[in-house]
Amino acid sequence: MLRMTAGATVGVALPAVGLAGCSEGSSTSPDPTGPTDAGSSVTGMPLPIPERLSGSVLNLEMRTGVREFLRDRTTPTKGYNGDFLGPTLVLRSGSDVSLNVTNNIGVPTTTHWHGFHVPAVMDGGPHQIIDPGATWTASFPVLNRAATYWYHPHPHASLTQGAIFDPMGTGFQVYEGLAGMIIVEDDTSDALPLPRTYGEDDIPVILQDRRFESDGALLHFPSDFNPTSDPALRKGGNFLVNGAEAPILEAGAQVVRLRILNASNARIYNLGFSDGRTFFQVASDGGFLRAPVPLSRLLLSPAERAEILVDLSSDQGTTLKLRSFNGGLGTSLVPFPLQDAWDNLDFDLLEIAVGAARENAVLTIPAALTTLEVIPESEAVNPLSPRSFELEANPFGINGKRMDLNVIDQHIRLGDTEVWEITNPTTQAHPFHVHGDSFQVLSRDGLTPPEHELGWKDVVLVRPNETVRIIKRFLDYGDAVNPFMFHCHILEHEDVGMMGQFVVEVDP
Ligand code: C2O
Ligand code: CU
Ligand code: CU
Repeated sequence: MLRMTAGATVGVALPAVGLAGCSEGSSTSPDPTGPTDAGSSVTGMPLPIPERLSGSVLNLEMRTGVREFLRDRTTPTKGYNGDFLGPTLVLRSGSDVSLNVTNNIGVPTTTHWHGFHVPAVMDGGPHQIIDPGATWTASFPVLNRAATYWYHPHPHASLTQGAIFDPMGTGFQVYEGLAGMIIVEDDTSDALPLPRTYGEDDIPVILQDRRFESDGALLHFPSDFNPTSDPALRKGGNFLVNGAEAPILEAGAQVVRLRILNASNARIYNLGFSDGRTFFQVASDGGFLRAPVPLSRLLLSPAERAEILVDLSSDQGTTLKLRSFNGGLGTSLVPFPLQDAWDNLDFDLLEIAVGAARENAVLTIPAALTTLEVIPESEAVNPLSPRSFELEANPFGINGKRMDLNVIDQHIRLGDTEVWEITNPTTQAHPFHVHGDSFQVLSRDGLTPPEHELGWKDVVLVRPNETVRIIKRFLDYGDAVNPFMFHCHILEHEDVGMMGQFVVEVDP
């Protein structure tokens, strides 16, 4: 209630100039304690494991709640079927599912199945509005490969309502807690000797950063926020994993699978372990990789997912930490005026306390995973003249234009495979996301991307001055009327207009 009241009074038409101004705005000295860090955090609790929801009819209720993230303070929140975040939906590839989403948050919203291969009208994007008190049903066959996906609100913020301050904006609603994980299983995942006991050796890891006001509330917009002096937007130094700050995972001395989802509004994590150990990425956004890829660092930008295996088999009795090594990033992804302290510091996310191996423990990393189908560039209709997307920051937009719900920006022919070229002339990295189905990354500045990016993706981080080429199929779900979205997944960028719409049609 408090949040809605605070948001509803916002009449500031600020972002048109104000947020654009922050890319050029005056810099602040990052303060490691955080400008709005209020009181001491509740830390060290067992890692919460969201409950699972599976079956052919799933019910989700978006509702308001409260949490105690800080000692002796309560934080008004929102969640699906609970106070903060939501249940993990477990779906079977090849089955049909109906998802009933009831809006009890008091403002219009939507719920989007991020990464899902669904018809545009079932996508839950900004056009599938759920009014307060209403229930929206999305029904579709699950066509996705086994991997980790997620769901979150996707209403389009109104510039006249202040965009990033609009309680009907995606950034606002996700920040308050509306998000959840989706796990898809299929015959490939069934057959692999991977850890698969949810919450035991197959662990959801939802990463989010937050800032709190002194009364415990999540950072207020815009009351205590000045985009010129405080351009960090919805980032903060309270790092939550599955909604708890610095929690502890009790794991067995065995191979553990972490399904990591960056559900943060704007934070990029440079993940690794406190002892520098090698881990193995087995899946990217939309499916398994060909084989486990050994890594010691993994950059994960907003909305990206990575499934990793970490071998704890000789670590019984010890602890290690999942850490973000942002200290070495400098200004390579976030320019100084837009940084907060943690864009350039190392910080811990999760402690892993290793006990005895569990029954039926997996003890080895498989040598191979799947025969990954590579979309040949020759299949594309436009390899020599890719469809181009230029990201812009002043003001935020794509190809010289801001998101307009009434404008279809791109018309794509049903049945085509296309190459898209995304260029980023700005000084900040932008995670570019496309709805409708997964894509593959062809190149970064003309070079083959690293091995762990050679699988199915739906978000690709485009660095400053970089050109990224992706290839995507548009083979089904033609609909000349209902669009899919493409956008930057920094939610405040999306909210101020760094988004566009495409339709897939028989006769574009
Ligand atoms: Cu995760 Cu268009 O969304
Ligand atoms: Cu999406
Ligand atoms: Cu962006």
